[in-house]
Amino acid sequence: MKHYLSLKDIDSLPDWVSEARQLKEKPTAYKNLGSGKILCLLFFNNSLRTRLSTQKAAMNLGMDVMVMNFGSEGWQLEFEDGKVMDQGKSEHIKEAAQVVSQYCDIVAIRAFAGLKDKLTDEAEMVLNGFKKYASVPVVNMESSVGHPLQALADAITLAEQNSKPRPKIVLSWAPHPKALPHAVANSFVAMMRLQDAEFVITHPIGYELNPELTKGIPLEYDQERALENADFVYVKNWSSYTDYGKVLHQDPDWMMTSKKLGKAKFMHCLPVRRNVVVADAVLDGGQSLVIEQANNRTYAVQVVLKKILEGSN
Ligand code: CP
Repeated sequence: MKHYLSLKDIDSLPDWVSEARQLKEKPTAYKNLGSGKILCLLFFNNSLRTRLSTQKAAMNLGMDVMVMNFGSEGWQLEFEDGKVMDQGKSEHIKEAAQVVSQYCDIVAIRAFAGLKDKLTDEAEMVLNGFKKYASVPVVNMESSVGHPLQALADAITLAEQNSKPRPKIVLSWAPHPKALPHAVANSFVAMMRLQDAEFVITHPIGYELNPELTKGIPLEYDQERALENADFVYVKNWSSYTDYGKVLHQDPDWMMTSKKLGKAKFMHCLPVRRNVVVADAVLDGGQSLVIEQANNRTYAVQVVLKKILEGSN
């Protein structure tokens, strides 16, 4: 495998989940694989889980890690070909990506959607710029439209927690005061297409995700009806896709509560705003899987790094 940019780079989700679970059993079993190799993490946006779990996974594989908060510490990047760079941007992606490639064996990038312009976000300029100009493999640590490491961790968590042949899994929108990207929801939807499950999406009118991604998946605007007999409920806020990047409303009735959850297990990628997105009682109760999801971030990225290292050795 050359890059890990989206769920499309997974050739067999069950095999990857199985391999990740084996790594979880023996995290340092491949300590020699990454010896002498360097992973460079470039953050254009904040992180807790992605940053620490990726470092931990790389260390489990014997890699050295360099981290740069590119968004606040790097030069502002230009992406346009042929641009006369006489304004604020000091460095072109062409040089930046090639230069970073001189210092590491794998580069991982986090660059969120700006949520101002749909076409700009969907162009994935940072991730695709590195893919085009870097000479080393590129890993997506959450881009404008996808968070494939989170979705892989969620698949691991589902495999560990599910005991039914075809569980009912609901992706439910929740209120949030800020406009958030669609990346987590998009990748969760893509991952669910690879699962044998009854999958339903629920959100208020106006919060439809990119129809190209959700085509054929049942959508239920009545949250209560969608949650009936659910085994797993994945809660996430996202801003409007149609009225791009807007917060259309913050209806508190959509917050997840113990009553609504019923007997289902609760999932969320974190960070989460307590008593806005989900009630304290859910997060503090025995049905919440959020800490296991965060733990599985390590083994998700570890299987990705392992496959890239095996391909490059
Ligand atoms: N879920 C997730 O990606 O967490 P961070 O933003 O803290 O990395």
